[in-house]
Amino acid sequence: MSNALNHYDNDTAYHRPVMLRECLEGLDLQATGRYVDVTFGGGGHSARILERLAGTGHLYSFDQDADAEREAEKLARPQFTFIRSNFRHLFQELQRHGALPVDGLLADLGVSSHQFDTPERGFSTRFDGPLDMRMNPDGDDASAADIINEYSEADLHRIFGMYGEVTNARTLAATVVAARRGQSISTIAGLKKAIAPCTPRGKENKYLAQVFQALRIEANDEMTALQEMLEQTAQVLRPGGRLVVMSYHSLEDRLVKNFIAKGKFFGEVDKDLFGRTNVPFEALTRKPVEASEEEIALNSRARSAKLRIAIRKE
Ligand SMILES: C[S@@+](CC[C@H](N)C(=O)[O-])C[C@H]1O[C@@H](n2cnc3c(N)ncnc32)[C@H](O)[C@@H]1O
Repeated sequence: MSNALNHYDNDTAYHRPVMLRECLEGLDLQATGRYVDVTFGGGGHSARILERLAGTGHLYSFDQDADAEREAEKLARPQFTFIRSNFRHLFQELQRHGALPVDGLLADLGVSSHQFDTPERGFSTRFDGPLDMRMNPDGDDASAADIINEYSEADLHRIFGMYGEVTNARTLAATVVAARRGQSISTIAGLKKAIAPCTPRGKENKYLAQVFQALRIEANDEMTALQEMLEQTAQVLRPGGRLVVMSYHSLEDRLVKNFIAKGKFFGEVDKDLFGRTNVPFEALTRKPVEASEEEIALNSRARSAKLRIAIRKE
């Protein structure tokens, strides 16, 4: 094993990969296969996939974050291609690289520990910093500050309720709108202060985590990007190819679950005139796989992970 790969064995500096063994098994890796990791992050999963490839085997890894791109340089080798792009452009990018079809696709959703633990990125309630929260700060997406200062009260109410499952979302939205009247809110400390009147005493951490989750999902348009990516998986995977998706909150997991079971995100499965369905995937896991107690003890982030594995039907 090369040093670059060794580096990921114990390295937790950037991101400790979650359910590594389970994800690799789910992909059913073949040495000469072609795989996609749509969420490179710190490359924890990608490095292990690369370790197993030989000959014509190839891995294409996506990430929209420039820090992840720099991290990917450590894995440079002929069998590896890093694609700095939002995974919503999955089909187009793989086609551009002459990489279709692929044998397996891995998605490890959400933010990396590196993004979360870097105060200037604005993801964590533990630090002060700019209210940014964009996974790709070079892009055109609205930052968390733009959302807080520019969204209507109704839209704030909607995202706090829907993406954060904040119980007093209406009051929270009204509080933000009142606080931003005098001056704009641009920092984490500023937001915490502005919403202090509606933050439940003794439950500050949980509440702020919900508020931040809502802002992060909205800033990165995470739900739409996930749906767009999943919709393209049937076109990019060969029949028999594996779809392996790990999510960290129920909204994401519901989309993944419905997509695998019904080929769509909402409503009942479509049937033709003869009552036949045309669902592209078959679930290999009826229930989502969860991390072991041992892993959760070592890595608290694994606690909320739900892994679903499916096979592209013939
Ligand atoms: C949980 S981390 C992945 C960690 C990685 N599996 C590891 O073990 O090091 C998720 C990564 O996916 C990236 N990401 C999330 N949504 C994305 C999207 N829509 N397009 C491209 N990258 C995305 C984030 O920037 C982040 O680096």
